[in-house]
Amino acid sequence: MELGSTMRHVLVTGGAGYVGSHACRMLAKCGYKPITIDNLSTGHRWAVRWGPLIVGDIADHRLLVDVIAKYRPVAVMHFAALSLVGESGTQPARYYDNNVAGTITLLQAMQQGGVNRFIFSSTCATYGQVEHCPIAETAPQVPINTYGRSKLMVETILRDFVSAHGLNATALRYFNAAGAAAEDGIGEAHQPETHLIPLVIGAALGQRGPIGIFGDDYATPDGTCLRDYVHVNDLATAHVLALERSAAQDGFSAINLGTGRPYSVLEVLAAVGLRAGCPVPRKIAPRRAGDPAALYADPHLAREMLGWTARESDLNKIVDSAWAWHAAPMEGRDRMEVRLAV
Ligand SMILES: NC(=O)c1ccc[n+]([C@@H]2O[C@H](COP(=O)([O-])OP(=O)(O)OC[C@H]3O[C@@H](n4cnc5c(N)ncnc54)[C@H](O)[C@@H]3O)[C@@H](O)[C@H]2O)c1
Repeated sequence: MELGSTMRHVLVTGGAGYVGSHACRMLAKCGYKPITIDNLSTGHRWAVRWGPLIVGDIADHRLLVDVIAKYRPVAVMHFAALSLVGESGTQPARYYDNNVAGTITLLQAMQQGGVNRFIFSSTCATYGQVEHCPIAETAPQVPINTYGRSKLMVETILRDFVSAHGLNATALRYFNAAGAAAEDGIGEAHQPETHLIPLVIGAALGQRGPIGIFGDDYATPDGTCLRDYVHVNDLATAHVLALERSAAQDGFSAINLGTGRPYSVLEVLAAVGLRAGCPVPRKIAPRRAGDPAALYADPHLAREMLGWTARESDLNKIVDSAWAWHAAPMEGRDRMEVRLAV
């Protein structure tokens, strides 16, 4: 039997990571079989539960060609990337090599294997310091860090592959991914963790010291920064919708994935405090360079093009699911690995 002929395989790079593993779960729920390629540089073996894991690197052209020939995926979802903003500034070659050169190798292997549909994990970091919120897809893209520039470069490359080779590409620009599918044993386990919600939960659980609030004198209702948190399950749903749309639509599309309803740092602390049953230990610290007061999406295009709205992204729902994940017994996960992550 030809593997690719009866099952709808989707090649998922970075499927052992946070967002990628939730996308694999959603793909399986929707009748697809995710085939993960991951070098486990930041991902976890335990997070790959809905299809095979091929441990390897997207820089390995031969491996990619062989995997594509074996599984004949209908599309590629490309999550694999390095994504620590601070690190990207001190190791630019590593970031451009992994995120940009790696993506070119992947696109070439797809071309060779006759795979045409590509869903890319882009980011609101491609917009940089915005003048105006909510941010529409037409806003200028002027990233202020190496990570954001690496993602914008990939968007540019995708546009060129679309016009030169007829690639069908969707760039999904996520805002702040958060939450977990704890009931299915996956959640956020970055190491180091830089995202607010897991850090606040770690502080509430006594796994770290007080949470630093970087600036409480911004021009926002409570003085702290506003961000657009979107549940990782909502992101996963958007990926499946983008995949299905790509069967009928050609060309390049860039679509924001956010709620358009931002929450402040203090609102996040309050939601976690409510869940914990006591206030989260905190300390006020100076503003950080490059942190805009507000960053949130205009989500209309996602609704129009994908029929997507964020259904699970209410802050209390996000916090409850993340709490369930972080407070759960660590069966099946590498205890050391997860402890270090919080
Ligand atoms: N988490 C967020 O809030 C967020 C926001 C915007 C965009 N993104 C983007 O979404 C994607 C997923 O983010 P995440 O938070 O799940 O990150 P993650 O670090 O948890 O997942 C990335 C995965 O890619 C793998 N990987 C990295 N380089 C690879 C390579 N060269 N070959 C094979 N595998 C490789 C890692 O091992 C990891 O499993 C990234 O592209 C990130 O830039 C994330």
